[in-house]
Amino acid sequence: MLKQDSIRNLNLVVLSKSNLFLSLLLLFQNLISGCMLLSGFVGDSLNRNMYASFVCSLKQASQNVRKWRPAGADKALTFLDYNLTVAYHRTNLLARYGEWEAKDDGGALEKLGFVKGYRVDVDVPQSTWAEAPLFHDVLVLNTGHWWWAPEKFDPEKSPMLFFKRGEPIIPVKSPEEGLDMVLKYMLTYIERRMSAQGFMFLRTQSPRHFEGADWNEGGTCHRRKPLEEKEAVSWFSLSKRPGPNAEMNQANLHLSKAIRGTSFELLNISFLSSLRADAHPSLSAGKLHEDCMHWCLPGVTDTWNDMLVVRLLQLQKVSASDVEDSGF
Ligand SMILES: *[C@@H]1O[C@H](CO)[C@@H](O)[C@H](O)[C@H]1NC(C)=O
Ligand SMILES: *[C@@H]1O[C@H](CO)[C@@H](O)[C@H](O)[C@H]1NC(C)=O
Repeated sequence: MLKQDSIRNLNLVVLSKSNLFLSLLLLFQNLISGCMLLSGFVGDSLNRNMYASFVCSLKQASQNVRKWRPAGADKALTFLDYNLTVAYHRTNLLARYGEWEAKDDGGALEKLGFVKGYRVDVDVPQSTWAEAPLFHDVLVLNTGHWWWAPEKFDPEKSPMLFFKRGEPIIPVKSPEEGLDMVLKYMLTYIERRMSAQGFMFLRTQSPRHFEGADWNEGGTCHRRKPLEEKEAVSWFSLSKRPGPNAEMNQANLHLSKAIRGTSFELLNISFLSSLRADAHPSLSAGKLHEDCMHWCLPGVTDTWNDMLVVRLLQLQKVSASDVEDSGF
């Protein structure tokens, strides 16, 4: 995990952004010699945000690109000069889910009085990314705010109903218990399929900055300056009554528990992003609700990718001096 200290030192290493990304391209080229290398972002719209930032940064170093989508991907670009493909696979919960309705010849859930809801198969990956671990060399995974989304998964009207090996899990579990099960199964699923040279990251939760109310109740984000460190800490603290922004730390508790004993690394972007109440789109680009959840580009997600790239370079022991020696 990247420590706060090494984040501060980043600007010593990184002479310029395109230099950083060029070193990534060179690293990839050295790794592969004649093979296509693939890098995948798997997760919700915040990982799409991160994907967009990643390909924009790479394009600063190389514009020779072609659209080509590996299996299940929502979006992807191939950097032809480097034989590198970067893809985004859309999935909200990682696990497969779909609408569920009670049947007349009722089973265990019907007996408990459930009429409607969402079936979540904790041990089955969503098809959009099920094959991704077989062909990606780098995977950046995330899941988060959908587990705290009562406007879709209403605890009364449309609860999450968890299934394992095709059967309902009885007694029924809370979404947070479901999240733990899903993470356990999905991380294991990936580890069993990724190549031994692959890199697996679980990104921590992206903070939201709704003020006054939640996203669908008129919450806003009109700040012009980042929060003070103290302010951010109390804003997201779990010890207070959980407000619309408490999910960051809630989610992170589950994520850090899930990676213990696995070969996943946590890409911890939460604290540095939590300061940036000023960096969301808010009402720009004709948004219906204020968007205090996604990030403007260029912006915060670029820093997430800087951290990712620096970590990949560290893992490959390619130093900044190698990059300079190569003439860039
Ligand atoms: C790019 O990757 C493909 C598939 O692995 C391979 O067939 C091709 O030779 C590679 N091209 C270059 C220029 O390395
Ligand atoms: C992420 O980093 C921050 C500070 O850099 C730390 O306080 C927090 O505990 C870390 N989160 C996780 C889930 O490791």
